[in-house]
Amino acid sequence: MLQKLLAVTAIVTLPAGFAFAASHESDDSSGASMEMEITGDAEAGEQVFRKCQACHMVGEDAQNRVGPTLNGVVGRTAGTLEGFNYSDAMVAKGEEGLVWNPETLAAYLENPRGYVEGTKMSFAGLRKEEERANVIAYLAQYSEDGTMGEGS
Ligand code: HEC
Repeated sequence: MLQKLLAVTAIVTLPAGFAFAASHESDDSSGASMEMEITGDAEAGEQVFRKCQACHMVGEDAQNRVGPTLNGVVGRTAGTLEGFNYSDAMVAKGEEGLVWNPETLAAYLENPRGYVEGTKMSFAGLRKEEERANVIAYLAQYSEDGTMGEGS
């Protein structure tokens, strides 16, 4: 409503620059597909991943540490990596159907304990949306065997 008004006003009275900004804004809020889109910058995500490395590994030699390896985590059902001893809470989430995709990962990484109550991941969360998107793009590069397969 406000945006419509703005757009109309812009056409009638404001300079072209403003009209452009207004119409641009209304684009954003509509059809943003939340499903499997990787929007982050994988290179920047490598820096963010340092915050995870105390507990998680990726790559061909990755092993479970305090946390499970994150090879192939995009597409993994929560709490299902063999050989890792998850919390009951995480296993239950997986049984309820939680699958890690860019959207669910972002929600978990923003507030791990809020999203999976009872998780044993002692991590406060990534507050910045950009950091979440970037680390997800970084993780999405690794296939289950730890190779950097068909980079997406
Ligand atoms: C202090 C250790 C620690 C840190 C730091 C940490 N994690 Fe974790 N993470 C864990 C543990 C432990 C689990 C298992 C949680 C459970 O079973 O409830 C886990 C689980 C996960 C899972 C679910 C995996 C699955 O197989 O279901 C994801 C995804 C994840 N972490 C991503 C991250 C990312 C990305 C970061 C950095 C931004 C990070 N974690 C930082 C310890 C950590």
